[in-house]
Amino acid sequence: MIETITQEQLWNGPAADAWLTMQSTLDQLFEPFETALVDAVKDQGARHVLDIGCGTGATTIAIGRAIAGRGHATGADLSVPMIELAGERARACGVDARFIAGDASRIAANTPFDMAVSRFGIMFFDDPVAAFEQIRAMLLPDAPLTAFAWRSPKENPFMTCAERTAAPMLPPLPPQQPDAPGQFAFAAADRVRTILADAGWSRVVLTPFDVECTMPVARLDAYLLHMGRVGIALNQLDDAPRTALLAQLRRAFAPFVDGDRVRFTAACWRIDARA
Ligand SMILES: C[S@@+](CC[C@H](N)C(=O)[O-])C[C@H]1O[C@@H](n2cnc3c(N)ncnc32)[C@H](O)[C@@H]1O
Repeated sequence: MIETITQEQLWNGPAADAWLTMQSTLDQLFEPFETALVDAVKDQGARHVLDIGCGTGATTIAIGRAIAGRGHATGADLSVPMIELAGERARACGVDARFIAGDASRIAANTPFDMAVSRFGIMFFDDPVAAFEQIRAMLLPDAPLTAFAWRSPKENPFMTCAERTAAPMLPPLPPQQPDAPGQFAFAAADRVRTILADAGWSRVVLTPFDVECTMPVARLDAYLLHMGRVGIALNQLDDAPRTALLAQLRRAFAPFVDGDRVRFTAACWRIDARA
């Protein structure tokens, strides 16, 4: 059995390694969500925006750029290496974005924010109610939240293809509990509504948000070798079984290949609420 590690270990260890290595590909893949969050910030006229679970900072930087001169964006993240890269990227492109390292349930800032956003950074909290209480405490009363999270594994076959394909060839992966921190922890709309209501948020609305994501087919091998539990497991295999499994994964992902692009529909929730 492959061991379970804590979210803090994961995002300061193998998951951080994967996201750092794959940063440009992942930013390309998830750009539609960055665009939607920049538009939401503009629609709200927000000036001090908190990006929760900002990772390597693409969304924070895009928002910082969009509101330059009238405000600034701040990213918060549990992953020290990811947030360090986010800071370097912001400095390199001259955007006034700030970054706070720490668990969302314990972070604090001096100035209250007038909006919070997240691109897939809210599903990994050990105590989601405590985290959303703390996020709310960092916002002005009635400030908006707009965040994206994945709907169910069944609705996201691209995201489950690697584990489904690799399962017979790998040591058993620990079973994924639907409510445990992880990519699909916010798949159940009622659970999300309950978490936010218990954390004191109001006007919680979940809207299906389905969008095409794409990356060059030349990046597929790297994606498979790095991302998710299969990426971690692949790197623990010897050369021969790794090569065999990679070949099998390429065949399984063939339905998502369209010429020189990989394409899939991301089935997500857009979550809107008020502090
Ligand atoms: C799927 S990644 C998304 C990163 C980024 N938002 C993006 O779209 O590129 C999830 C992010 O949530 C962060 N995260 C996980 N648990 C967290 C917590 N308890 N507090 C703050 N950030 C957390 C991870 O470190 C990681 O950067």
